[in-house]
Amino acid sequence: FKSGCFSWDSSGNSNLRNISLEVKAGTKVAICGEVGSGKSTLLGAILGEVPRTEGMSHVCGKIAYVQDAWIQTGTLQENILFGSNMDKRRYENTLRRCSLVYDLESLPFGDRTQIGERGVNLSGGQKQRVQLARALYHDADIYLLDDPFSCVDAHTAASLLNVGEYV
Ligand SMILES: Nc1ncnc2c1ncn2[C@@H]1O[C@H](COP(=O)(O)OP(=O)(O)OP(=O)(O)O)[C@@H](O)[C@H]1O
Ligand SMILES: [Mg+2]
Repeated sequence: FKSGCFSWDSSGNSNLRNISLEVKAGTKVAICGEVGSGKSTLLGAILGEVPRTEGMSHVCGKIAYVQDAWIQTGTLQENILFGSNMDKRRYENTLRRCSLVYDLESLPFGDRTQIGERGVNLSGGQKQRVQLARALYHDADIYLLDDPFSCVDAHTAASLLNVGEYV
């Protein structure tokens, strides 16, 4: 982004003003700020969902976006693969990188356990990591994670944060 202004509506008041940001491939960027300061709006701007009113923006690559923990009724494995073919190595790597291995051990049928409305109710943190695993398995160029640590403890957050180091 170069001097980008972004606005959710046409009132003329920008939600984000004068944003200059360059993120290079292979880098990990964390955006911190108080509630309502525009962190999610910035991700929306990257997705092209928030109209740009001034400046320049350019985003290249396939994007994976993780927002709220969203689980579909089905097995845990189905929730991660989400229609993609099973690549055992990639799948197991994903589970490990999303700190899900330990959780799977405690589920009655491991990754074949039914979850969601008609299955086991996962904890908030487990749902969040299933979401993360779904994004990671799909091999995007850009991963946008909105508040990915909101439901996990400090230890899990630290190991998730290191996910990028395996890529
Ligand atoms: N979908 C939307 N439509 C219109 N305005 C929005 C929308 N989402 C956010 N806003 C506005 O954009 C501003 C920034 O909100 P945003 O959600 O980006 O903050 P945030 O930093 O992500 O906050 P939080 O930490 O609470 O998630 C707020 O004034 C909010 O009212
Ligand atoms: Mg937000």
